[in-house]
Amino acid sequence: MKLCMIGTGYVGLVSGVCFSDLGNDVICVDKDIKKINNLKKGIIPIYEPGLEELVLKNYKNKRLNFSSNLKESVEKSDIVFICVGTPTKKNSNRADLSQVYAVAKEISKSVKKFKIIINKSTVPVTTGDELEKIISKKVNKKFFSVVSNPEFLREGEAIRDFIYPDRVVVGSNDSRSQKILKSLYSPLISKGAKFVSTKRRAAELIKYASNAFLATKITFINEIANLCEKTGIDIEDISIGIGLDKRIGSRFLRAGPAYGGSCFPKDTKALVSTADKFKTNLSVIKSVIRSNHLRSDLLSKRLSLILKNKIKNKVVSFLGVTFKANTDDMRDSSSLKLIPFLSRKGAKIKYYDPTGLKKEFKKLKNVEFSNSIHETIKGSDIIIIHTEWNDFKSINFKKYSKNKKPIIYDMRNIYSPNKIKKLGFKYFGIGR
Ligand code: UGA
Repeated sequence: MKLCMIGTGYVGLVSGVCFSDLGNDVICVDKDIKKINNLKKGIIPIYEPGLEELVLKNYKNKRLNFSSNLKESVEKSDIVFICVGTPTKKNSNRADLSQVYAVAKEISKSVKKFKIIINKSTVPVTTGDELEKIISKKVNKKFFSVVSNPEFLREGEAIRDFIYPDRVVVGSNDSRSQKILKSLYSPLISKGAKFVSTKRRAAELIKYASNAFLATKITFINEIANLCEKTGIDIEDISIGIGLDKRIGSRFLRAGPAYGGSCFPKDTKALVSTADKFKTNLSVIKSVIRSNHLRSDLLSKRLSLILKNKIKNKVVSFLGVTFKANTDDMRDSSSLKLIPFLSRKGAKIKYYDPTGLKKEFKKLKNVEFSNSIHETIKGSDIIIIHTEWNDFKSINFKKYSKNKKPIIYDMRNIYSPNKIKKLGFKYFGIGR
C-alpha cells in the first residue's frame, strides 16, 4: 500500500520505517527540511536501537522515502498517518492539538480521491470528530475517512514493539477502512497480534487509559516499595509474589525512581483534563500524578538520610540520567530533580550516560560529565545507579574502588544486596 506519515518524530519515523520494512511504499514527511535532508543521508534524529539499519535498508531499496512536500506526498498516498506532537499546553494540563489540526487543514487541500486519514498522535477523545469537521470543510465526506490507530511503542524497544505488538487497535466508524487497516496490519496479525476493532472514540480512549493504567501500576508498586523500606521487606519479592497472579501480571511492576518520559506524565494529565471537561472525576489518576510528583522529593530525602545529612563536598557519581535505559530522552527524568538537589546542597557530581553529555546540567554548579563508568565512579562517596542500561549491570565495584568504598544506591534494584554487602560496600536499593 502507499502510505504517507506526516511528522518524523518518534512515532512517525519508527512506524513509517517499519511499515516500509513490511513491504509498503512509505513517504515520511516533515516540514523541517534539514531533518528530511539528514534522513536522506541516513542521519537519524533520535536514538533508537535498530532504527538506523532499517532506515538505510529500506531507503536503499526505495520503499522508504523522505519529503518536505506534504501536498505531493498526500496526493501520492492511499493512507495518510498524522504523527505529530501533542505536548501539554503551557500553564494547563490539556493537550495542545494545534499541530494535529494544522496538519488536518493541510491534508484537506490535497484529497482528490478516497483516502484514509489516520490519527496516530495521542489525542483526547473526540479529537477525531474535530478532524472530520476540519477536513469536511474542503472535502466531500465520500472521499475520506478519519480513523484512530494509537501506537503503543516504548522508546528503546520501539521496533520490537511495532513488529510484535500485543494488539493493534483501530477505531473507525466505517467498515471499509477497518478492512483496509486489517489488511495493512495482516503481517503482524499473522504473527499473533490481536486486532481490536472499535469505534473511533473508543480507540482514542484506549490509548490514554493504557498509559494511565501503566502509570498507576508503577506508582502502586513504588508506594508499596516505600512501605517495604520501613518494614525490612524486599519489594522484588512482592513484585514476583503479586505479578504471578495472571489478573495482575508481572510487567510494569518494577519499583524505581518516579516514572518519566514524554508520555506517562503528559498523558495522565491530559486524561484528567479531558475527564474534567466531561465532568468526570478521575480521582485515582489524580492521585497517581500527585504521588509520582512527590516521589523525587522522597528520593532526595532518602538520599540525605543515606548520606547522614552531610551532602556538602560529597563526591556523588550518577550512572544514567535519562528517564530510562536505551533512550537519550531526558524529558521528565527524575535526574532533573535529583542532580540539581545535590548540586544545591554542595555535592560534587560526576555523571555518565551512554548517550552522552546533557545540556540540562550545563549551568549547574559542580556537575560534570565523565566519559566512562570508570572515570565516573573513581573516588566517589556514593554511586547512584539511576537507569538500567546493560552497561551498568556487571560493574566490578571492587576493582574501581580500591582505596575508598563508596555507598551504592541502586535505584533500579539491579544488584543483589547480599552480594554487594559481602564485597564490603554499603548498599541501598528501592524498597529493600
Ligand atoms: C510508554 C508506554 O509504555 C508505551 O506503550 C506508549 O506507546 C508510550 O509511552 C507512548 O505513549 O508513546 P515510554 O514512555 O517509552 O512508553 O516508556 P516506558 O517503558 O513505558 O517507561 C515509562 C516510565 O516508567 C520510565 O520512567 C520507566 O523507568 C518507568 N517504569 C516502567 C518503571 O519505573 N517501572 C516499570 O516497571 C516500568
